[in-house]
Amino acid sequence: MTAATTPATTSATTPESAPHHPEVFINPRARAWQAPEGHDGALHFHRSLRGYAPTPLTELPHLAAELGVGRVFVKDETERLGLPAFKVLGASWAVHRALQTHSAAETEAVEAQAAGRALVTASDGNHGRALARTGRLLGHPARVYLPRGVHPVAAAAITDEGADVVEVDGDCDEAVAQAAQDAQRTGALLVQDTAWPGYEQIPAWIVGGYATLTREIDDALAAAGLRADLVAVPVGVGSLAQAVIEHYRRPGRGDDRPGLLGVEPTAAAGLLASLRAGEIRSVATGTTTMAGLNCGTPSSAAWPALRGGLDAAVAVTDAQAGAAARELRAAGIDVGPCGAATLAGLRSLRAAASSPADSALAAVGAGPDSVVVLLATEGRAANPAGDDTDSDPTPEPDPSPAPDAQI
Ligand SMILES: Cc1ncc(COP(=O)(O)O)c(C=O)c1O
Repeated sequence: MTAATTPATTSATTPESAPHHPEVFINPRARAWQAPEGHDGALHFHRSLRGYAPTPLTELPHLAAELGVGRVFVKDETERLGLPAFKVLGASWAVHRALQTHSAAETEAVEAQAAGRALVTASDGNHGRALARTGRLLGHPARVYLPRGVHPVAAAAITDEGADVVEVDGDCDEAVAQAAQDAQRTGALLVQDTAWPGYEQIPAWIVGGYATLTREIDDALAAAGLRADLVAVPVGVGSLAQAVIEHYRRPGRGDDRPGLLGVEPTAAAGLLASLRAGEIRSVATGTTTMAGLNCGTPSSAAWPALRGGLDAAVAVTDAQAGAAARELRAAGIDVGPCGAATLAGLRSLRAAASSPADSALAAVGAGPDSVVVLLATEGRAANPAGDDTDSDPTPEPDPSPAPDAQI
């Protein structure tokens, strides 16, 4: 599955001369990478859930003008199946598949036991809440291990779903390790949104669940006679990016293969470190308002797609994400910091470009006629970080006109 790429790391200027210019990783062969055949099914399942509706794809013309591209659409995941982030797409499909598999394989007596089986996970907030909600709806108690730095509002939202929260004095990787140990010790079902060697099936279902949002994007754009030239995706462990990359790099898409840009926080740039090294690397994570992206190690299952099929990766600061969040809110999309990361990433790439034909922009497909889709993966209700202690010196943008179209 690993592509024979010759990726390159570029920096618009040296860090010394321009510390705010981003370091960008470009893979010039990413468009040619072929994903394995996927298995559909999640969209059909999600459509059967009460409250399901495709989330809006909202056009923001003023951003297109600012970014020098044809059209900009924001895939607005600030409300998804009653929760303020996209993550429930993965948790609901994975739990459904896991329980289905168990019931098919087990006797009636064991099945009855499985009905009340505890679900356990580690999460920066959104996945934990999504799993807690799924467990509550299906009658399974849930336990969620939270690393340091999760906003108290996000932690309270998980307990409000009836789940037990275990606070871990460590980072995301440590919380995942403790959740995995819990599952081994207690027999709980580990529903983790990242994979490692030997733990791959449930993360694969989670990724399959995320694919629903890519199908919705294609359907909405097709209905308007459009297709994406660039899709920007926020990256934590890279499972969401895996879903996006595998969708847009499927065999059979012909030349409908948009540029794909991954955006992560500078405080947790594990993807950039891994891409540079050509193999999975863990970085020590710092603190960031983008809690959902505060992960130092890419998922092993996501890695082949990240390495082979992602055109570019860039890291953004909390200040950049904060400024982007204010701009999206002024345009009527009430995002949290992770939800604004993609706009911050594209802006930062654009600002650092030496010319409109700069290789970084060309690599991701951000030209004057491009149709750009920014994934806004969480609402402010999911993660109000940055609102209380706003140290961002960037001035408020001018209030923008309300979005003029949702498709
Ligand atoms: C709001 C939000 N956006 C993006 C992501 C990134 O997803 P992944 O960790 O699969 O890269 C997360 C992960 O928790 C998240 O909570």
